[in-house]
Amino acid sequence: MNSFLKFPDGASVVVTGAGSGIGRSTARICAEAGLRVALWDLIPESIESLNEELKGFGATTFVAKVDILDENEIAAGFAATQKAFGHIDYLVNNAGPANATAVTFSEGVAMAAGSMANVTTAWLALGRHDGDAIVNVASVAGNITGGGAEPWYPSAKSAIAGFTRYLALRRPGGIRANAIAPGLIDTPRMVTYMQGDEAKCIISRNPMGRAGRPDDIGATICFLLSPAASYINGVLLPVDGGAQITV
Ligand SMILES: NC(=O)c1ccc[n+]([C@@H]2O[C@H](COP(=O)([O-])OP(=O)(O)OC[C@H]3O[C@@H](n4cnc5c(N)ncnc54)[C@H](O)[C@@H]3O)[C@@H](O)[C@H]2O)c1
Repeated sequence: MNSFLKFPDGASVVVTGAGSGIGRSTARICAEAGLRVALWDLIPESIESLNEELKGFGATTFVAKVDILDENEIAAGFAATQKAFGHIDYLVNNAGPANATAVTFSEGVAMAAGSMANVTTAWLALGRHDGDAIVNVASVAGNITGGGAEPWYPSAKSAIAGFTRYLALRRPGGIRANAIAPGLIDTPRMVTYMQGDEAKCIISRNPMGRAGRPDDIGATICFLLSPAASYINGVLLPVDGGAQITV
């Protein structure tokens, strides 16, 4: 087998917000690719059900109830995950508040972008190895489009892209850092929105004629972590079916 397509034996990843949608898909695909996967989420039942599913095909997993808005829970989550797995090679910063969450601008940016910086800082402090990598989940909103129900959302998502480029340049501990910009993805969070006129309009203009699926994003995140992406550093990769392409 081409080693570029294979993760190192025993490598492990933390996925935040692993209980639903993009995080759940990412965790499952990473487990299918042979990674040991730490499932972090606010809602224990959601990650426990995923854990059962992953153990069903022999994956090595660890479950931790971690609210990424709480620095004590982040520290406890890493301590427990490191005890279970040893070195944590990869981090997927996926969890973030829904774009319609009614908070002030600075609260929203702190919740969405500040929390990713806090999780990343705690992960970096554990010590890094060659080949370690991070993927941050941004959005087309704020980076390509003006989307987002509240003004803090596109602002935080472009802050995440900027933070990712900072990490990619400075390379603390030698990591690679990339961000992903999903378009409209049909996740549990989006159920009501998907029924509305705006979502139908977005889909009708998409060259692929459909919304994204969580697996479209999970597979791309897994690729960006993997040795197959060993020279990809600092990109913000849109995964949106080509939504921004026009004639
Ligand atoms: N769905 C889309 O169209 C879309 C588009 C662009 C970007 N995104 C981004 O993708 C990420 C995941 O969104 P999704 O659509 O899969 O949502 P989702 O609601 O389906 O899943 C989010 C998961 O994160 C968990 N979570 C929320 N806040 C948390 C916290 N403070 N600590 C720990 N876990 C927490 C939730 O419990 C849930 O399991 C978000 O960062 C979102 O902004 C989504």
